[in-house]
Amino acid sequence: MKKILVLHGINLNMFGKRDPKQYGTVTLAEIDSRLRVLGQELGVEVECFQTNHEGEMCERIHRAFTEKVDGVVINAGAWTHYSYGLRDALAILTAPIIEVHMSNVHAREEFRHDSVFGQIAKGQICGFGADSYLLGLRAVVGALETSK
Ligand code: DQA
Repeated sequence: MKKILVLHGINLNMFGKRDPKQYGTVTLAEIDSRLRVLGQELGVEVECFQTNHEGEMCERIHRAFTEKVDGVVINAGAWTHYSYGLRDALAILTAPIIEVHMSNVHAREEFRHDSVFGQIAKGQICGFGADSYLLGLRAVVGALETSK
């Protein structure tokens, strides 16, 4: 069975509590559970990982390389906008990477408009709340189907 790794970055464990105007009231645990249900439907294994520590995220990505995960869905939170370290770590992977955001980052502050992952991601999805993740999972599974 194909394995998809879902990575959640800095502050995303606070979904449900932080800024409900941007992120609604859904919790990260609820998002992970919806992803696992969809994973079952799509016939893939879904593992979810969250950390607030950049080095830990970097090491999880390195592990994804050695484990040969088949695809990655990532919401790196604010790291998206400035972490060249995580970009370089993700660039090591050969698996397709889909970048997702709950909010529409382009309708927000200027610093959120750029992503350092843009060049290496297969695609980006933003603005659909928790559905951004579910669309991201469908997109990465779709990418695996078409690359067969
Ligand atoms: C976010 C958008 C980022 O700009 C922000 O720093 C976050 C969450 C989103 O899911 O909309 O932490 O990635």
